[in-house]
Amino acid sequence: MSELVRFSVSLESELLERFDRFCEKGRFATRSEGIRQLLHQALTDEAWTESSPDAMATLTVVYDHHRPGLVQSLLDVQHGGGECVISTLHVHIDHDHCLEVIVLRGAPSDLRSLADRLRGLKGVRCGDLVVAHVPEPGSAHPAHGHHHGHSHPHTH
Ligand code: NI
Repeated sequence: MSELVRFSVSLESELLERFDRFCEKGRFATRSEGIRQLLHQALTDEAWTESSPDAMATLTVVYDHHRPGLVQSLLDVQHGGGECVISTLHVHIDHDHCLEVIVLRGAPSDLRSLADRLRGLKGVRCGDLVVAHVPEPGSAHPAHGHHHGHSHPHTH
């Protein structure tokens, strides 16, 4: 086991209170244990999705559709993404804003770069990318070795 190091973290008191309540409710004995497990989980997710040749993801963007050129740019980038863009869902939020959920499929690095281009456009308010692994055909246990924090029913 490698050497333990201490480091300090600055965060809002309200966020820390929420984290403490989260630890109390869950299985984390201490803040350190909670942070250790959450970090481990995040890094595992990252490594896992990067090594997968085929992933699916959703990108949710909120944008101001009055912004000159933005709607066209969003379309151009999506068309430029070719086969990665599977489907989009569009919701008119209010007079100014639209929400779009874009379903993507391809190599995680391609999905990430497409997402970066879309959320980098001026006028896009947020762009949350959620990557999901696509199980290989015949692999019944794609999630094994991957910690979800909850269990799935498996049929053997
Ligand atoms: Ni709209």
